[in-house]
Amino acid sequence: MNYCNAIFIILIVFQIHLFNAIDVDPHKTIAWGPGLDPEKIVMRARYFFLQLVDVHGKNLTESPGETFISTEIKGQNKNTHPCRIWTQVLDCKDGSFIIRYRLYETCSNFHIIVKFKHSDVKPVSISAKGPVHEEECYCPNPSVDVWLDDYTCAPNYSQILEDLKYFPKINFDEIRNEIIKEYDKPHSFSICHYVVKNNRIYRKCYGQHVGFKIFSDSILLSLTRKVVLPDFEFFMNLGDWPLVLKNKNVYPIFSWCGSNNTIDIILPTYDITQSSMESMGSVMLDMLSIQGNIKTPWKNKTEKVFWRGRDSRRERDLSDIVEKINWIKQHDDDALRIAKAGRALMREVALSRDVFCYHVSLFREWSRRLQNEIKVLENMEEVLKPEYSCECSRNAGKNKKNTNSKDEF
Ligand SMILES: *[C@@H]1O[C@H](CO)[C@@H](O)[C@H](O)[C@H]1NC(C)=O
Ligand SMILES: *[C@@H]1O[C@H](CO)[C@@H](O)[C@H](O)[C@H]1NC(C)=O
Ligand SMILES: *[C@@H]1O[C@H](CO)[C@@H](O)[C@H](O)[C@H]1NC(C)=O
Ligand SMILES: *[C@@H]1O[C@H](CO)[C@@H](O)[C@H](O)[C@H]1NC(C)=O
Repeated sequence: MNYCNAIFIILIVFQIHLFNAIDVDPHKTIAWGPGLDPEKIVMRARYFFLQLVDVHGKNLTESPGETFISTEIKGQNKNTHPCRIWTQVLDCKDGSFIIRYRLYETCSNFHIIVKFKHSDVKPVSISAKGPVHEEECYCPNPSVDVWLDDYTCAPNYSQILEDLKYFPKINFDEIRNEIIKEYDKPHSFSICHYVVKNNRIYRKCYGQHVGFKIFSDSILLSLTRKVVLPDFEFFMNLGDWPLVLKNKNVYPIFSWCGSNNTIDIILPTYDITQSSMESMGSVMLDMLSIQGNIKTPWKNKTEKVFWRGRDSRRERDLSDIVEKINWIKQHDDDALRIAKAGRALMREVALSRDVFCYHVSLFREWSRRLQNEIKVLENMEEVLKPEYSCECSRNAGKNKKNTNSKDEF
């Protein structure tokens, strides 16, 4: 019934030949990703991609070797010493690389340089005066719209429009107590009621097992460091399955999962969200190193089928599995194409930037639909931001954008 953990992956691979050195053209090489705009886009581990292209203008499909590219990412801290930065180059073994870097302090005079072996031409050479902030720095952009623009977020998400169609207008003053009554059943539900006001976070949780609130807390804290969120309130289901049946009371509940029979408002799952915030830190799931730590090139892989899913997904029909496996064994090119398309899709929809964009877009849209005054309830506690000292350029008054956008509030 539920989609939460239902992922189905089949990997089948064959072996053939060895790859030889090729002529990579540094001028034609393509670089893209949020890590190339470090002044505007803040995340724990900034990342960008590199697709190598040969002299004939064709994308490389195999790796020229891990040592083919070298990077230099550097800046100065406020004492004009070299910034503490950790850089990683991930060879995807398919002609593309992922470069990511983590800042431990705010940097200025920032440079990103990528070099190729045997060439003086730099495929990437970016300079940013700075400041380039680190994730922990509380330095929110006062305008949600400017922020969405800076992060090049999609203008809208069909999933958000679909999920919110049941909730054109919401007045929590009318339904808040009903919702609490319905879900304040400690043995059955784990749910938190959040209020975000003046970019501060307050909550009251109901349930016996509410430890997962650390995930909703931490994404909210991370967002408030980046952007001044609109005032809003919502209920967050911390459980593993959706709660609001279609034909019963139409309560707005945010969940990490949904189904066709329920109308929970979907958020990216807690593990992918955590991965977005903590990448290059301690994470259960590292979306980028999954793509980059590929030891075996496609052609060297051995045939293997594995299943990842969960038994609660009853509708998963596996009756044609043998047929599908036989088909894919005979169509290695298609298999490679499917694998590549999957990887490309993940790069576009499931990485840090996309997870941040989705949350902010949803919260902005949600706040517009709320009719009640947003108030912190008496029984709520504040989710405090951790102590952390950093220089936020917006506070220094030298940032013009800051003064201009004051009018919007
Ligand atoms: C080469 O790779 C880039 C980046 O992934 C992609 O946008 C482009 O379509 C590819 N070109 C071809 C001809 O496949
Ligand atoms: C969503 O964005 C697209 C692309 O900008 C636009 O064409 C479309 O009208 C938007 N849809 C809604 C419902 O806002
Ligand atoms: C859920 O709904 C979608 C869209 O209507 C449909 O494509 C899909 O098959 C449905 N899934 C199940 C399990 O009924
Ligand atoms: C891939 O296979 C070829 C030949 O079968 C072998 O020479 C090469 O070392 C293998 N590469 C890796 C990374 O396993």
